[in-house]
This record gives sequence, C-alpha cells and structure tokens, in this order.
Amino acid sequence: MKFFVDTADVGEIRSLAEAGLVDGVTTNPSLVARTGRRMAEVIAEICSITPGPVSAEVTATDLEGMLAEGRHLRGIAPNVAVKVPLTEAGLRACRTLAGEGAQVNVTLCFSPAQALLAAKAGAAFVSPFVGRLDDVATDGMRLIADIVTIFRNYPHLRTEVLVASVRHPMHLVEAARLGAHVATLPPAVIRQLLKHPLTDRGLDAFLADWKKTGQSIL
Ligand code: G3P
Repeated sequence: MKFFVDTADVGEIRSLAEAGLVDGVTTNPSLVARTGRRMAEVIAEICSITPGPVSAEVTATDLEGMLAEGRHLRGIAPNVAVKVPLTEAGLRACRTLAGEGAQVNVTLCFSPAQALLAAKAGAAFVSPFVGRLDDVATDGMRLIADIVTIFRNYPHLRTEVLVASVRHPMHLVEAARLGAHVATLPPAVIRQLLKHPLTDRGLDAFLADWKKTGQSIL
C-alpha cells in the first residue's frame, strides 16, 4: 500500500520523507491556502522533495478553465498529478488531460458510481473521502469496500483507489485490509501509526535491564 501525506506543509513533508514514510503527496485548495504561499511556488517545492506523485488541484469549475489550469499545474514538475473534482466538467477534463499523458486524481468522490465514472474517464487515482462520510453518520469504509470490489471485477481499469479524508489509524488499517492501493494521511495520523504504549514500555524494560549489566555494545 502506498502512503501519501495529505498536506501542503513543506516542513512536515520533508520530515516524513526523510523517515521514508512518504510515497507521494496530496494537496487541495484549503491545504494550500493554509500555507499562505502561492500555489505554483509551494507545489514546485513539494515536487522537489517528494519521490512520487504530488496532487495539485484546479480551482476552475468549467472545462476550459480546468484544462488551462491543469496544463499549467502539470508544467510545474513531472511528478504533478492534476486533481479535478468529480463533476461532469471534471470528468471531461480528466479524459482530455489523461489523453495528453497527465496523471489525474479525481477527488471529492462519495459513491461507487462516481468512482466507476472516474475510472472510465482514465483517472490515475480516484479519491473517496472516508472521514467526511463518517462525519455525516455514513459508513465511509463501506464506500472503499464497494469501490475495491467493483474495480476488481474489471482488471483492465487502471485507476488506483486513493483513500482520502482519513481521520485515524483504523481508517488506514481497514483500507489496507480491503486492498486499497493508496491512503493519503494527515501528518499527525502517520505519526500515530508508529505509536504503541507496549512498544514504549517494552523498550524501557529492555534498557533498564541492560543498564544493570554495566555493559556497552561498542
Ligand atoms: O485532501 C483530500 C482529503 O484528504 C481532505 O480530507 O476531510 O480531511 O478535508 P479532509
């Protein structure tokens, strides 16, 4: 399973990438706005420190605007994945941009039918939002299960399921159990994956016993 980090904070990305925990990055207009930086500048910097795809989202809502912005974003760096919303214009832009060789991430997906349309439009990734469904008392992980099951029926589909809007480690674990290709995780959730109190307690006990020996390995 690929781990993408869901942020436009370059410091966070750099720190996690140095730990080998980043296979890619996803941003969205809200995450970029939070940086206070210009889109092109922050995406260029993220692309320079990220080994894999970096999703940069268009903000136009019409086809021509999406195509112009998507081509501009794609020109920033070879590893830019153009992100478009799951609307009719977004799907049409996906088909055209994918036809031009772009990686397209179709986002704001909330149903299996939407995901199937994104795949038919040639998306490299489709981003179903788990947490936002959970937020409205709907089983977000059920959406992932449905999409993965449907995609498995059609092996010719090349679209990867990119689980988004992840709120906690169990979203990641369940998504991995289901066989989703990618999960995009807020930096805090990535760090939570590492932590277990029994690991900390066990290490403390090992070191306390070792200290009693007075030995040193070196
Ligand atoms: O960036 C896409 C998605 O992961 C955002 O999810 O619900 O945390 O804003 P959310």
